[in-house]
Amino acid sequence: MDAALLAWFRENGRDLPWRHTRDPYAILVSEVMLQQTQVERVVPRYLAWLERWPTAEALAAAPLADVIREWQGLGYNRRAVNLHRAAQHVARKGWPEDLTELPGIGRYTADAVAAFAFGAPVVPEDTNVRRVRERTGRRFGPQCGQALMDLGATVCLARVPRCNVCPLAPGCPSRGRRYPPSRRQGRFEGSFRQRRARVLRAVAQSPQPAEHLDGDAVLALERDGLVRVGDGLVALPD
Ligand code: ADE
Repeated sequence: MDAALLAWFRENGRDLPWRHTRDPYAILVSEVMLQQTQVERVVPRYLAWLERWPTAEALAAAPLADVIREWQGLGYNRRAVNLHRAAQHVARKGWPEDLTELPGIGRYTADAVAAFAFGAPVVPEDTNVRRVRERTGRRFGPQCGQALMDLGATVCLARVPRCNVCPLAPGCPSRGRRYPPSRRQGRFEGSFRQRRARVLRAVAQSPQPAEHLDGDAVLALERDGLVRVGDGLVALPD
C-alpha cells in the first residue's frame, strides 16, 4: 500500500537540496533550520551555510559570533548556538549512537538524521507526517519518510485537505473532511520574540551599551548563550 504514495512522490515530490546528500552534517543543518522555518526560506540559507561551513569540523572551528550572524533572519536563534555545540561534539567525538545526545536535537530531528543520512529504518514524525498517519489510520514503511512530509505539506493540508489529488484517498477514513483552524503561532509583531530579535540584530552589528537596550530581552538572550554582558556592554559571544 506504500506503492501509491511512493509513485505519487516520484511524480510530485519537491526537489530539495538536502535530498541530494546523505552527509549527516548537511542533513542535520537542514533539519535544524526546518524545525521552525519554512522550506522556501530555508533553501537559500542552507546552501549558503554549507558553502561557508561545509563540514562539522569547519562549523565547530568558527567563532560563535559568526554563526549567530549567519543565522540572522531564520528566527529562533538558540538553534544556531545548539547547532554550533552539536558540531563541536561531532568534531571531537564523532556522531553519537543516540543522536538525541546532541544539543537541541529532539526525537524528530534525531530520527530524520538517522533515516536520511544513516539509512535507519524509521519514519521521522513531524507535524505533517503525524497528520497523515492519524487521518489515514495507516502505518508506513521506512522508505516513506520524505514522501509523507511532502504529502502533508502539499496535499493533506491542516484545514482543507486536497483529497481529490491524494494518492491515499481510496480507503482513507477521513476523506472529504474539513478541519477547524488550529491555534496558530502567536503574532511576532509586539511579541517578546520580536524584542529579542531587535536586540540581537543591534548587538550583531556592534557591541551596545546595556543601558540603551531592552533589559529583559538582554537577560533572555544571555541565558540562551546568544550574547554576553560585561563592562556595561552587550556583545555577541566569542
Ligand atoms: N521539513 C522537515 N524536514 C523536512 C525535509 N527533510 N523535507 C521537507 N520538509 C521538511
